[in-house]
This record gives sequence, structure tokens and C-alpha cells, in this order.
Amino acid sequence: MQVKIIDHPLIQHKLSLIRDVKTGPKEFRELLDEVAMLMAYEITRDLPLEVTEIETPVAKCQCRMLTGKKIGVVPILRAGLGMVNGVLRLIPAAKVGHVGLYRDPDTLQPVEYYCKLPSDVAERDFVVIDPMLATGGSSSATIDILKQKGAKHIKLMCLVAAPEGVLFVNKQHPDVGVYTAAVDECLNDHGYIVPGLGDAGDRIFGTK
Ligand code: PRP
Ligand code: URA
Repeated sequence: MQVKIIDHPLIQHKLSLIRDVKTGPKEFRELLDEVAMLMAYEITRDLPLEVTEIETPVAKCQCRMLTGKKIGVVPILRAGLGMVNGVLRLIPAAKVGHVGLYRDPDTLQPVEYYCKLPSDVAERDFVVIDPMLATGGSSSATIDILKQKGAKHIKLMCLVAAPEGVLFVNKQHPDVGVYTAAVDECLNDHGYIVPGLGDAGDRIFGTK
């Protein structure tokens, strides 16, 4: 299983609060936003830098600044929306594409209902964001869409993953780095992650 678990203490503490059934939508959103920002810090560790000359009020000096391709962030609707602002706080110049998918409750297969991506997909590196990686169908389908439009470098950032989902994405997209705060035990008969946190979209938006 190829996955990077981001186990920073702040992320783990906040994840535990997010999981708690007593945590309501307001606090759930706030915590998810904070965790997304902390995770974005970790997944951008390998962004390339180039040396450039900067003039401070005192002297000229050689400094390092970001180089390489611009970033695109793609939340999977709906629940991925809960992580967008946290990521954008660290990468404010990123463009945001949206992919709308829902899981068919019987087949658990993703059904696409919306797609709006930046016009220059091939010129960007992408981070796909979704709190939940369950069967992996939704994330894999989103990565398929990005690759069809020319994306070459894609990372997947989720909050909680099931082993089944990580393995599925690894198999379908071995080139895509998977980042998560936790790999849980398994999926239940309804395709929910155990112990997980329930239905992320419903908990963010208060729809259940
Ligand atoms: C949830 C979640 C992921 C997907 C994960 O979305 O946010 O997108 O399920 O499951 P998978 O890995 O088995 O595909 P859902 O379909 O419930 O839609 P929602 O975000 O609109 O609630
Ligand atoms: N989608 C969710 O929101 N939660 C799960 O546990 C699985 C899929």
C-alpha cells in the first residue's frame, strides 16, 4: 500500500474531534478547514525552489522562491469543498476546478454530474481533495478526468482513507501520491469507512 500518513500531532488531535459524533457542523467545518491547511503544508514540502536575487532594505541577497508549474486544486463535490479554503490559505494563487460526483448507493460507483476545470490543465500540477477515500471510485474517476485533460502530476489529499480505497487508487494510478491523516480499518457493507467519521458531506453541510 503506497500512502503517506501525515501524523502531525495537531492534525491527529483535530481529526479525533472531527470523528466525534457529538461534533456539530459548525465545529466540523472549522476543524476540517484547519486540518486541510496543515495537510497542505505537508504535501507542498517537495515544491521546487529556484534561487533569485532580492534586494532587502540593507543589501542584495540570493533567496529561494517557488518555481515550476502552477498549482490546481480540485475538490470533489460536495465534501471536498470543506477543504478548499484551508488549502487556498497556503496556496492562494492556485486555480480551483470542481468535479461533482456522487456514489450510487447500491453499486457504490461514482456518478459524474459536474466538471469545471481551469482552461490550462496541462500546464498545472494538481491536488485532488476529498475528506473520504472509501472504495476509491470517486477519487480515481476524478484523477481519470484530469489525466484525460492532460494533467501529468497529481496528488490526492484526503482526511481518512480505507485500505481498500488506497489500494484501488494505487492500482489505477500508481503515479499519484496518496496523502491522508489516517488509514482506518475497513469498509462496512454500505461502503462507509470504519470507524471513519460518517458521511462527510452531510456532517459539513448539516444535511442529516
Ligand atoms: C463521499 C466522499 C467521497 C466519496 C468517497 O461523497 O466525499 O467523494 O463519498 O467514496 P468512494 O471512495 O467509495 O468513492 P458522496 O458520494 O457521499 O457525495 P457528497 O460528498 O455529495 O455527500
Ligand atoms: N463517504 C463518506 O462520506 N463517508 C464514508 O465513510 C464513505 C464514503
